[in-house]
Amino acid sequence: MSDNTFSYDVIIIGSGAAGLGLALSLPSHIQIAILSKLNMSEGSTYYAQGGISAVLDDADSLESHKIDTIKAGAGLCHDDIVDLVVSNGKASIDWLMANNVEFSTRKNVRSDNELHLTKEGGHSYRRVVHANDSTGKAVQVALNEQVLNRDNIKIFEHHNVIDLVTRKDEKTGKKRVTGCYVLDTKKDAVFSMKSPCVTLATGGASKVYLYTSNPDVSTGDGIAMAWRAGCRVANMEFMQFHPTCLFHPEAKSFLISEAVRGEGGLLLLPDGTRFMPNFDKRAELAPRDIVARAIDHEMKRLGIPSVFLDISHRTAKFTKSHFPMLYKRCLDFGFDMTKEPLPVVPAAHYTCGGVITDRNGLTDINGLYAIGETAFTGLHGANRMASNSILECLVFAKQASIDITQYLKTAKPPSQIRAWDNSKVINSDEAIVVSHNWAELRQFMWDYVGIVRTTKRLQRAKHRITLLKQEIDDYYMNFHVTSDFLELRNLVTTAELIIDSALLRKESRGLHYTLDFPNLDDKHFKKDTVLDPSR
Ligand code: FAD
Ligand code: SIN
Repeated sequence: MSDNTFSYDVIIIGSGAAGLGLALSLPSHIQIAILSKLNMSEGSTYYAQGGISAVLDDADSLESHKIDTIKAGAGLCHDDIVDLVVSNGKASIDWLMANNVEFSTRKNVRSDNELHLTKEGGHSYRRVVHANDSTGKAVQVALNEQVLNRDNIKIFEHHNVIDLVTRKDEKTGKKRVTGCYVLDTKKDAVFSMKSPCVTLATGGASKVYLYTSNPDVSTGDGIAMAWRAGCRVANMEFMQFHPTCLFHPEAKSFLISEAVRGEGGLLLLPDGTRFMPNFDKRAELAPRDIVARAIDHEMKRLGIPSVFLDISHRTAKFTKSHFPMLYKRCLDFGFDMTKEPLPVVPAAHYTCGGVITDRNGLTDINGLYAIGETAFTGLHGANRMASNSILECLVFAKQASIDITQYLKTAKPPSQIRAWDNSKVINSDEAIVVSHNWAELRQFMWDYVGIVRTTKRLQRAKHRITLLKQEIDDYYMNFHVTSDFLELRNLVTTAELIIDSALLRKESRGLHYTLDFPNLDDKHFKKDTVLDPSR
């Protein structure tokens, strides 16, 4: 394939709720390319279970949703962004339904159908709209169908974006994006794509940890690419661990939705004792940082491999109808959740930090946007409240679509961009380097940069990162790139950003807990951790 064959008005990297939300919100005269590392559905969006938060109950209020979000965020949420997102909850649900997403309903007192709302940690009211326990699948499948029907949208599945291409504007001295380099993983060929506008909608980075609820694509690519291109990132120390993933050798940290606790599920020790009331008055429905840390504490204190989540006190009919997918998957692993407690452990789940953007999703580089889990908008602060994420994807997709439409009215299409040069590299006979380093990275991130940290452990991790970076640079200069290698390179960059941010925050707040500084220090640290690649 020759270089610069492809030219689009907008390139969207990622086909989850953020990427598809943006593509469908842009006007139909704009020519769009959507790139996706595997098939279109393979991202966190598809696996979302609990739902999407929106104020719909008469007893609830926007004010209450805002207060809950800010409380979970432990003092670091940006009020204006919380306001923007929360006040667009209902509009986002309406938009999804207009795009054929079907949510669970119930009959109200007038016998009309209305949306069924469930509850999750940190929420004061029932405000989580859901499609049973497979909300993400309902969203992804419906949006896929819409996108596939649009003539102005071209989908590139199995295409791994390697890096962004930028150019310095001679007049302003500011950078603007002009395209990206892409590895077609089926053909094993690299080509370039040009566009005045690129959006990173690449999801999170939880694969940096050994145990994660995330699918394999969550390797922090957008964050690493933006960093290499010169964008600032913020709050990378706040990696969220979901408290309840199934503990089973073959379950690959399969998530057991927080909605199970929202509907009455209790956390128990092996002897059947309930322990969450000892840690927080909200007990099982405290925000995730508190629940995950309590579980970690009990597991270490008692030397046990898991704790237990029990919803067997509810009727089997209730559990099977509210959690049909979970019920079936747990049965596949040999557990009947209607009759017995499930063994659960925490696992890495969500990246609260990311590429810094303004309220329109615009990054530090002209024409480059970041939306969804890859972005740092200021919504989540030091800990994301459950079910605020897909909502954030949709609100910022809409915001970005308006800004991009304006931008394209005056943006100059880029001229030719430099071709990918692979003349000096050969095929690797050292694939073992990549697989070994993947395993090593994820293990030491779990051991040293997990739920409970210390400065010494963080420094150990940093030292190992330095060694890995040298090997990766060496590999990059000498061998053809592969998807595994590209993901490792991005994970190492992301891991370094997490460690550097964690070392800078000499206090404990939200998801960042260190034994060396166990208290909150509002005087010095009630602020975002901003890393700047130009410094
Ligand atoms: P994703 O949906 O992760 O999509 C990322 C896309 O980027 C993929 O298409 C991927 O292929 C592509 N991509 C990545 N790198 C590249 C590259 N280099 N080149 C090309 N393409 C690339 N949130 C909620 O609000 N409610 C929930 O109930 C909920 N439940 C969850 C349950 C699970 C098991 C998980 C893992 C997450 C859950 N979350 C939930 C979080 C939420 O699902 C995600 O934060 C959100 O879906 C992220 O959407 P996204 O569009 O930003 O990224
Ligand atoms: C869950 O269903 O527990 C996940 C919800 C979320 O991560 O927002």
